[in-house]
Amino acid sequence: MKLILLGAPGAGKGTQSANISAKYNIPAIATGDILRAAIKEGTELGKSAKSYIDAGKLVPDEVVIGIINEKLASESCRNGFILDGFPRSIPQAEALDAMGVKMDVVLNIEVPDEKIIERMSGRRVCSCGASYHVAYLPPKKDGVCDKCGAELYVRADDAEATVRNRLETYHAQTEPLKEYYAVKGILVTVNGRDEVADTTADVLAALDKVEC
Ligand code: AP5
Repeated sequence: MKLILLGAPGAGKGTQSANISAKYNIPAIATGDILRAAIKEGTELGKSAKSYIDAGKLVPDEVVIGIINEKLASESCRNGFILDGFPRSIPQAEALDAMGVKMDVVLNIEVPDEKIIERMSGRRVCSCGASYHVAYLPPKKDGVCDKCGAELYVRADDAEATVRNRLETYHAQTEPLKEYYAVKGILVTVNGRDEVADTTADVLAALDKVEC
């Protein structure tokens, strides 16, 4: 299965990506994770991406298109993959088409803005990639990752002012992708505002119907 996860910041793309990856045994490529890892390592990519991420803006298209091009060429993507956070603009979607990649489904997780702002204040993440929520998806031990035991932290771009900028960027540049993929007949929308388990059930039921 070749799948794109579409949705506002905090809609639950990363949360659902982990479930889908486990069920279908396909890797997830999350451009946000790749960019944050580059910032942490202090690479040239990280240095150029940081100011955009801190401002809640998109990193330039050519940078993320280069990342995706390289990732999709790897052997691990041969039997399918999940794109979490890419494409995020019409030029990125066109670049994916130009790579000759034919997607099976674009899963759009729909959550209203005010719900997103409330959710983001409770997100806690781990450097191993795991993500939690203090109320909706708590770790077994407060502040500690279930998977690796490391201390959880708040993502720098989860401050409310930055989340509002990210939402503005989403509506202006990413939301038009719904129409782009609806026209291609591969857009499937699920309600992401309910409990995590309900959203997971809806996502997996929707994917069961997809023919690959
Ligand atoms: P990225 O890391 O991709 O951030 P994002 O899209 O803003 O998405 P998030 O990771 O914040 O949220 P999510 O939808 O994965 O939600 P999650 O599952 O964690 O990108 C960061 C930045 O990198 C961008 O702003 C941009 O600058 C840059 N970038 C990345 N890709 C780019 C690209 N292609 N082009 C240009 N720039 C790019 O859930 C959120 C919280 O809610 C968690 O705490 C979770 O536990 C909880 N939760 C999840 N589902 C539910 C539910 N159903 N009910 C209750 N709580 C829930």
